[in-house]
Amino acid sequence: MGRKAAGRIMKFVRFMMKNAALASVPKHIDHFSKFSPSPLSMKQFIDFGSINACEKTSFVFLRQELPVRLSNIMKEINLLPDRLLTTPSVQMVQSWYIQSLMEILEFLDKNPDDHKVLTEFVDALVTIRNRHNDVVPTMAQGIIEYKEAFPHDPVTNQNIQYFLDRFYMSRISIRMLINQHSLIFDGTTNPVHPNTIGSIDPHCQVGEVVQDAFHSAKMLCDQYYLCSPDLILQEMNTEKNNHPISIVYVPSHLYHMMFELLKNAMRATIETHESSNNLPPIKVMVSLGGEDMSIKVSDKGGGVPFRRTDKLFSYMYSTAPAPQIGEDTRPPLAGFGYGLPISRLYAKYFQGDLQLYSMEGYGTDAVIYLKALSTDSVERLPVYNKTALKNYKVSQEADDWCVPSKEPLDVSNFKVAK
Ligand SMILES: Nc1ncnc2c1ncn2[C@@H]1O[C@H](COP(=O)(O)OP(=O)(O)OP(=O)(O)O)[C@@H](O)[C@H]1O
Ligand SMILES: [Mg+2]
Repeated sequence: MGRKAAGRIMKFVRFMMKNAALASVPKHIDHFSKFSPSPLSMKQFIDFGSINACEKTSFVFLRQELPVRLSNIMKEINLLPDRLLTTPSVQMVQSWYIQSLMEILEFLDKNPDDHKVLTEFVDALVTIRNRHNDVVPTMAQGIIEYKEAFPHDPVTNQNIQYFLDRFYMSRISIRMLINQHSLIFDGTTNPVHPNTIGSIDPHCQVGEVVQDAFHSAKMLCDQYYLCSPDLILQEMNTEKNNHPISIVYVPSHLYHMMFELLKNAMRATIETHESSNNLPPIKVMVSLGGEDMSIKVSDKGGGVPFRRTDKLFSYMYSTAPAPQIGEDTRPPLAGFGYGLPISRLYAKYFQGDLQLYSMEGYGTDAVIYLKALSTDSVERLPVYNKTALKNYKVSQEADDWCVPSKEPLDVSNFKVAK
């Protein structure tokens, strides 16, 4: 047999093996989705990365837990309406999940005592993380394709909101696991922040993160509007008088939330105050109590009507024009309209929340609530079960409140005959 023919056969064998592996994917998803994800506490994350960090333990945990988290959410992807599931973008996202699941399953029968296996695992995690970098804009693109193709489909802002909140939360958690393992066990220390444990800072200085986020938002704002409002930052530490507030947290998550809230506040402030030489400052109040660490961002940007506040967190009703992937021309202060919903997920991820209180005509307070104590900061994870399944089955909810009529009531009908 010639070399060429042998090569062709090898190629064919590889193709068949890949297909065989692909064919077994649904079986694996069924198997792993039967387990509930195991939420980790901030303390557990830190223990995985402290002095007696054990790479082997982390490896053995992750090769089970990552397939569980992936499979749980892949089950939900499959429940999406066909018209959405079959868009090219959602198909692409789905293929990334399948590929990554298969790559982790390779490690199930490998020996944790083998150093080479551990190194390969870190490399595999990095490959997976990079593969999934563009999941959010690609999924957003899928929603846009779907909206364009079926503008009158009654399906269900509600279902899509439900799905995307869970899907993006799952993604945040999977990236957190991957980041912790790959940062802690790649054998280097973070040169800028030597005291961080993976991506967690046990003494995350909240005020400093606020300042950082403000400076980045200010730079964008100056570029786009040629001016920007000032920041007034106050801290109230009832736990330790006058000490700068710090918590155990992931600085990059806090930065993300603050950056989004500050961009929104700046844009609103500038667009409602035409004369830019007198911009009201943005006030940020950070306070630490026994249970909560809260951050309030207050602007005088004219606010939004109460009726619209829920929609601001919707993935379906984005006000901004749809930016194309890979295009650089998107306005820097407003993109997909995902700033608020994704920031709220980051807050909720460790049992916090993000809420908006607006007074139309005046301004907006956006408040981030986080847990003050690391023992309360536990991952909040979606799980695929009967309740979740039911949520995908509800169709348009019938409204059980009267619709107010625009026509004046014809009172003459009620006149009692004399
Ligand atoms: N502080 C605020 N004052 C007034 N309106 C606001 C404020 N924050 C948000 N909004 C309104 O809510 C909408 C949604 O905000 P969100 O941050 O989610 O998306 P976006 O700013 O449009 O785009 P991006 O994804 O870039 O953040 C904004 O377009 C704006 O209309
Ligand atoms: Mg925004």
